[in-house]
Amino acid sequence: MTTVARPIPAGLTAIGAGSAAFEDVVGLDEVPAGTLRRVTFGDLDVLLAHTPDGIVAVDDRCPHMSAPLSLGELDGCVVQCPLHEGRFDLCSGDVVQMPTTGGLDADGRSHPVWTPGGKEPKADVPGKKAEARRLTRVRRFRYYPVRIRDGRIEVAIPRA
Ligand code: FES
Repeated sequence: MTTVARPIPAGLTAIGAGSAAFEDVVGLDEVPAGTLRRVTFGDLDVLLAHTPDGIVAVDDRCPHMSAPLSLGELDGCVVQCPLHEGRFDLCSGDVVQMPTTGGLDADGRSHPVWTPGGKEPKADVPGKKAEARRLTRVRRFRYYPVRIRDGRIEVAIPRA
């Protein structure tokens, strides 16, 4: 089966990447099916993921608290973050599961304050923390265009 570049979900192309030049990054054989790999361009860390739907390139940064997803686990299109077990669908850009400590759930709602097991639920006391929780938005993935040429993965990286 021929490996392809997974199309970017609508509206999720990284700023400047749509008009950036493609750069040779790594050999396709260096990112086998089902694996993750970090590649770095200056101070930009990009995650290459070899999903069943093709190669994906996104920021190597968890939408929750910025952990490197390249250290996580890839199951189909879903990457699990190594820090708090957040799970994200790299093929659609959607959240599968946010951790209990922050961010919006996949349906866009904010979940209740986390409470240790066996304890009474914590009250969501009005104030700056409650407001911050209400205003917190999941930073959806931003994608970089990918193409495969002669067994090499090329990525369009915006340069200043
Ligand atoms: S940093 Fe990824 S789930 Fe928290």
